[in-house]
Amino acid sequence: MPQSHAKRYPEHLHRVRASADRALEEAGFDHLLVGAGIEKFSFLDDRPYPFRPNPHFKHWLPLTAHPGCWIAYTPGRRPVLVYVQPDDFWHLPPEAPEGYWAEHFDIRIVRNARDAAQHLPTGRCAVVAEADAAIPGVTPNNPERLLARLHWDRATKSEYEIGLMREANARAVKGHAAARRAFSEGGSELEIHRAYLAATGHSDHDLPYQSIVGLNEHGAVLHYQHHRADKPGTSRSLLIDAGADVGGYCADITRTWGNGDERFQALVDAVDSEQRALVDGVRPGRDYAQLHLECHQRLGGVLERLGIVRMAPHDQVEAGITTRFFPHGLGHFIGLQVHDVGGHLAGPEGGLRERPADHPFLRLTRPLEAGHAVTIEPGIYFIDSFLADLAAGPHKDVVDWGLVDELKPFGGVRIEDDVVCTEAAPENLSRDAFAAL
Ligand code: GLY
Ligand code: MN
Ligand code: MN
Repeated sequence: MPQSHAKRYPEHLHRVRASADRALEEAGFDHLLVGAGIEKFSFLDDRPYPFRPNPHFKHWLPLTAHPGCWIAYTPGRRPVLVYVQPDDFWHLPPEAPEGYWAEHFDIRIVRNARDAAQHLPTGRCAVVAEADAAIPGVTPNNPERLLARLHWDRATKSEYEIGLMREANARAVKGHAAARRAFSEGGSELEIHRAYLAATGHSDHDLPYQSIVGLNEHGAVLHYQHHRADKPGTSRSLLIDAGADVGGYCADITRTWGNGDERFQALVDAVDSEQRALVDGVRPGRDYAQLHLECHQRLGGVLERLGIVRMAPHDQVEAGITTRFFPHGLGHFIGLQVHDVGGHLAGPEGGLRERPADHPFLRLTRPLEAGHAVTIEPGIYFIDSFLADLAAGPHKDVVDWGLVDELKPFGGVRIEDDVVCTEAAPENLSRDAFAAL
């Protein structure tokens, strides 16, 4: 870990504590207990699923592979870390706790996760953890009001968090470059995926999400989940949506590559250009839901300019045509989780900030503030079921079906970057990382 993380961490922890102070006061609790979570096993088996820590736990410190641990925080006191270090000859136990964060905690080592309870306060406790993390005397209650405050505050990143996300992006773009090479050499989806893993140094299990590696028509499947080992006869296009993790913080990047076809390249370039313009809209005070609606206008413009739809963008949006080519949201908060929580909160006390009508998949409706980290990920796809809707609907004749048939074998285009809203120009973590490669 670079020195900069160590330097920035105290200010980060100060913010986490201040947020916890507010949350406890507002929700009427004296102590905050945060459980890392437990390892889970396959049914009738001793094979564990990959461990995914409670994001609230890794907000406090960069421990991501430590089931059974707990943090206990009482305002005004040094936070307690109950650190489970089992005496286990079957598995490698976690190393002794150390790192830039360690001096800020009162660390209690236990050999058995159930012993953690002895080190946790009792009384009016907010216990933030999954239900199955319960230990005798400590039952998760996840108070709604308290979580609303924590989730609201968490959207604004500290310099420490942004530093980790910069690194996560640097890690991910190495993978994207390797994936592009593997694609240009005619690799299968599995080979491309492996090239990505090798270049990032990730295993499948520690990726922040399962990479989407779609050749040709698979680019049209929004969350395409396979990595096929066979090579298609021709590799026309690659849509790769793949991230990386550093210190518990995520990158989430998508690139689409063609293989020389001019029409498809024109589509990629047009989406890329609109994506850059939308990134520039990541400014304090900007309503993200409005930016999503702007994205529809812009993509309607692309569809019209390229001759795919013969209708003015505004009318396309009114008629719901753009939603047939761009059926997902413009993006989401990102940080400790790829889809970071709190995107629909009306305020720190909770409540819902509604999505615009007819945009059910938009994950973020809040006005942007300096320090928010979001993705910007417009796309245009050729999805059979939506094309069938269009062909059966009243606007069938405005679509150039010949051109759609030409483009359909390429699947679709998505371009996705991770962007930090600042008081000045937005910081594009992903493009900056590509530029530094
Ligand atoms: N990788 C999932 C997403 O872009 O939201
Ligand atoms: Mn995303
Ligand atoms: Mn993505």
